[in-house]
Amino acid sequence: MNRGAVRPEVWDRLVARAHLPGAAMAAAGHELYGPIAQPPGTALVIGQVGQSLDGRIATLAGDAQNISGRDGLVHLHRLRALVDAVIVGAKTAVHDNPQLNVRHAKGPNPARVLIDPRGRIPDDRRLFHDDGARRIVIQAVDRPRPEGVEVIRLGLDGDIIAPHRIVAALAALGLTRLLVEGGATTLGHFCSANLIDRLHIAVAPLIIGAGPTGLALPPVDALDDCVRPTVTAYDLGSDVVFDCVFRPRERYTMVAE
Ligand SMILES: NC(=O)c1ccc[n+]([C@@H]2O[C@H](COP(=O)([O-])OP(=O)(O)OC[C@H]3O[C@@H](n4cnc5c(N)ncnc54)[C@H](OP(=O)(O)O)[C@@H]3O)[C@@H](O)[C@H]2O)c1
Repeated sequence: MNRGAVRPEVWDRLVARAHLPGAAMAAAGHELYGPIAQPPGTALVIGQVGQSLDGRIATLAGDAQNISGRDGLVHLHRLRALVDAVIVGAKTAVHDNPQLNVRHAKGPNPARVLIDPRGRIPDDRRLFHDDGARRIVIQAVDRPRPEGVEVIRLGLDGDIIAPHRIVAALAALGLTRLLVEGGATTLGHFCSANLIDRLHIAVAPLIIGAGPTGLALPPVDALDDCVRPTVTAYDLGSDVVFDCVFRPRERYTMVAE
C-alpha cells in the first residue's frame, strides 16, 4: 500500500500551488494530494467520507464524533486547506455543528457552504461564526441570515436543488475547487449528478455494527451495474484512505435514473 505521509516542505509546495498565483507551475510532488492541489480556477469536486471498517459513519444513537483517527482527521483538514469551499448538508449542520475550518493542518480556511433549502438551520451554528472565512448558504426560500453570510437563492428542481446549479453558482463567486464533506444525502446528490471527480473514503479500524452509511445512492440489482472507480489505497497511519477516481464512463449516471 502507498504511504500517505507528507514531508512539511512538500506540503508547503502543495499549499503554494493551490493558493499562490505565481506558484501554479510548481511540482506538486505527492500522489495523494497533488491531484487536489490544483491552481486557482480549476474546476474540481472532491468528496470525502470518514467511516468505520463496516462502512458506518455514526452509531444508531447518532454518535459520529471521533470515527476517524488522528491521521484521518489531519487528512480531512489537508483536503479543506487545498480547496476553495467546503459543502455540507442541513442535517450535518444540525447533528454535528461542525466548524469546517483548518485546525489540524497548515493552510487557509476554505469558504463554508451550507445547503439549507428550507431555511431551517438556526443562526447559532458554528459554521456561521465570523472568523474571516466566507460563509455561504444555498437556500430555496427567502430567509435572512446572520450579517456577513452570503445567500445564494436557487429554486428546487423537484425535491432538490440541482447540484450542477450549486456548482455553477459557487463558480460565479470564484469558488471552483469544492470539497463535499457530507452527509450521505448531500454527497449522494453530487455523485448521482455525475459531479464528483474524486472520492476519498477514509477507513478507521473500528466496527460499529449498525448505523448510517456515508453515501446515499439509488439501489442497483446487479453487481455488474455497480460503480467501479479506479482506486489507490494510502496508509495514513491511524486510517487507510481509498482515493477513488471516476472516469466519465464510470461515473454514477449508470445508476442514477
Ligand atoms: N463521517 C463523515 O465523513 C461525515 C461527514 C459529514 C456528515 N456525516 C454524518 O452524516 C449525517 C447527516 O447526513 P444526512 O445524509 O442525514 O444529511 P446531510 O447530507 O447532512 O443533509 C441532508 C439535507 O441537506 C439538504 N440538502 C443537501 N443537498 C441538497 C440539495 N442538492 N438540494 C436540496 N437540499 C439539499 C436537505 O435539507 P432538508 O432536509 O432541509 O430538505 C437534505 O435533507 C450526520 O449524522 C453526520 O454526522 C458524516
